[in-house]
Amino acid sequence: MTVFADVPLAPRDPILGITEAFVADQNPDKVNLGVGVYLDAQGKLPVLECVRRAKEQVALAAKPAAYLPINGLAAYDAGVKELVFGAGSPLLERAVTVQGLGGTGALRIGAEFLRQLNAAAPVLISDPSWENHRALFTRTGFAVGTYRYYEPGVGLDFPGMLADLQDAAAGTVVVLHACCHNPTGYDLTPAQWTQVADAVQERQLVPFLDMAYQGFRDGLAADGAVVAEFAGRSVPLLVATSFSKSLSLYGERVGALSVLGQDAEEAARILSQLKVCVRTLYSNPPTYGAALAAAVLADPELRALWDAELAQMRDRIKVMRKALAERLGPDFAFVTGQSGLFSYTGLAADQMRALREQHSVYGLDSGRICVAALNEGNIDRVAQAIQAVR
Ligand SMILES: Cc1ncc(COP(=O)(O)O)c(C=O)c1O
Repeated sequence: MTVFADVPLAPRDPILGITEAFVADQNPDKVNLGVGVYLDAQGKLPVLECVRRAKEQVALAAKPAAYLPINGLAAYDAGVKELVFGAGSPLLERAVTVQGLGGTGALRIGAEFLRQLNAAAPVLISDPSWENHRALFTRTGFAVGTYRYYEPGVGLDFPGMLADLQDAAAGTVVVLHACCHNPTGYDLTPAQWTQVADAVQERQLVPFLDMAYQGFRDGLAADGAVVAEFAGRSVPLLVATSFSKSLSLYGERVGALSVLGQDAEEAARILSQLKVCVRTLYSNPPTYGAALAAAVLADPELRALWDAELAQMRDRIKVMRKALAERLGPDFAFVTGQSGLFSYTGLAADQMRALREQHSVYGLDSGRICVAALNEGNIDRVAQAIQAVR
């Protein structure tokens, strides 16, 4: 008998479990709408042109892969900081950015840092939220609760959300989806963001913005504008950026954590602690993806190209939303009012199971489908399958 004898078998990750079932399915017309990945009109993972050109630049500058500093590639951190807080902004002086392993790694560094400061702080995530929010903050040692966010048949439950934030204890960490809410697709309006920021300030909460989809709602600048709502007030602020979707660099694990302090001196102390977190978690981050993202962020031509390619991706998603709504009738008109990669269809778990088992269309039991995986070649099948299980 060893310490491993009683290791319990952990449940399968719900999303990756669906992918496994999809891979095992022999139906040649199977469709995977389970994973949060943007696919192009041909159903392929795109290589963005801005990234292809960045690869040429990075190849020209190829150097041995020495260790990066603990907080990551300096040019990358500087580029992300400007993306988050605005080039030339006075906020840059009191903000710090560290490279992270994707958006998840950025959230994890932030969670670790916050736990060191106050392990007893409550953490609130939206109901529902990306599954990993709860798991990640729980695993870090926090008690995780929820604020109301979605009401079936209605969409965003903004009064409920606001009431729950206004009720939260001082010091509560509030995880907020900056745009393209995962899993529902329902976002706040700018006026609603102002009300949330008011509540955060009044109640002295700690906002943690998850920006996993910057650029997929209205564009980089418009989607990033939510940061200013919080940064303009004397509240602490954490922002987790991911380039997984926006640069289609999923496996390179490119993300960053940005933290805004009260002044430059406080920011320096925050950075020193973030470095301790990183050092003890994985020592220092990988080189390649950050070099690519840094090149795109720094080169005005590549940056403009990136903006244009993001516009193409979001336009394609909008076209697919419209096409799905047209095929499914007025009951599904709500799909066009959601944004980002996902749609909460309102279908129940047994209907989602029937979609998988009888039609080889794979979405999550929660009713979430990834509309960014729809294309002209599969949309009729998907719409017919949804009609059949309704
Ligand atoms: C809301 C949200 N946050 C964070 C992430 C993590 O992104 P990454 O793949 O960069 O770790 C995702 C990815 O699906 C997400 O949907």
